[in-house]
Amino acid sequence: PRIAVLISGSGSNLQALLDAAAQGALAGEISAVISNRNDAYGLQRAAAAGLEQHVVDHRNYPDRESFDAALVAKLKELDTDIVVLAGFMRILTPTFIEPFWGRLLNIHPSLLPAFRGLHTHQRALEEQVSEHGCTVHFVTPELDAGPSIIQGVIRVTEQDTEQTLQRRTQRMEHLIYPRAVDWLSSGRLELDGNLPRLDGEQL
Ligand code: GRF
Repeated sequence: PRIAVLISGSGSNLQALLDAAAQGALAGEISAVISNRNDAYGLQRAAAAGLEQHVVDHRNYPDRESFDAALVAKLKELDTDIVVLAGFMRILTPTFIEPFWGRLLNIHPSLLPAFRGLHTHQRALEEQVSEHGCTVHFVTPELDAGPSIIQGVIRVTEQDTEQTLQRRTQRMEHLIYPRAVDWLSSGRLELDGNLPRLDGEQL
């Protein structure tokens, strides 16, 4: 399968996926990187890996629907089978989500369903949780609410700050995201209605 990775920023998760692919740990092929910002550092990572890069700038579109339609057109033109959101900071509408139903993954920096949305590390500290982490999930129209596939857990201590939580959570992201993408691209993982299945077993 051909995998497109969508980014808006640093692209450290993209790098983790590229590294996994280079080590033969990804069943699919990362065939393209798309950013909504032309200054995303992740585009340089894509270039360094010899990958096709594309910019679809949301500011060129009057509303979310038309931006999403342009993204879908680009992804189809690129023969994309699987879409991996890796720090893609745009809210997607059903126009985007439906054509890639069951083939669209996101990673979120919290143990969902806790802390949907932004500033997850700060909120985790404020609520004095003892565990925090990240979640890979299928994308459905409700923000950060699609069926979860795998979570990485980190321990929170009294010394932690937003920065230390972010660093350890990101390290965990880099461990779990390539694994989930490999499951989906090898056909082991599927979305059956609203339930994820791995090797035919409901998760
Ligand atoms: C990650 O923390 C991810 O959970 C969130 O955006 C961040 C992207 O980081 N969705 P990077 O661009 O992959 O370094």
